Amino acid sequence: MEQKKLNPELVKLVEEWKGKEGNLIMILHEIQNHHGYVPRELSLELSKMLEVPLARIYEVITFYNFFKLSPPGKHLIKLCMGTACYLRGAGIILDEIKNILGVKEGESTKDNLFHLDVVRCLGCCGLAPVLMIDEKVYSKVKKAEVADILSKYIKEE
Ligand code: FES
Repeated sequence: MEQKKLNPELVKLVEEWKGKEGNLIMILHEIQNHHGYVPRELSLELSKMLEVPLARIYEVITFYNFFKLSPPGKHLIKLCMGTACYLRGAGIILDEIKNILGVKEGESTKDNLFHLDVVRCLGCCGLAPVLMIDEKVYSKVKKAEVADILSKYIKEE
């Protein structure tokens, strides 16, 4: 596997932000935007460059749900658990997705094909319960449809 290194822009960023308030979060954001997650080897590199213990870096990463420690799955599933969706059975849809894919919220499948996230509102409450996979919105989703929806993405592979 290719060893990940901080790219020159990030090295510059680290140098600029070294010793400044909030630097760690800012730099971790940049790393995640670039790689889709925070690779362990970059956390180690950061720890040395910023002279911050690795444990402190992991404390920050695990405190904020936003940061991921492993590469995100290829297809991002966003299941809405906002009020309208929740009242129309989003919990049942969520359980079905978890059963089929064998993941919890915030996790990616072992084959890295899917990543499951729960969101608060996708802005189309009239279509509840709503499920979004990448850019596609699935509306008024029923439990019986979940396997079919997911299988389209599995077949594409
Ligand atoms: S509550 Fe689900 S789209 Fe608004």
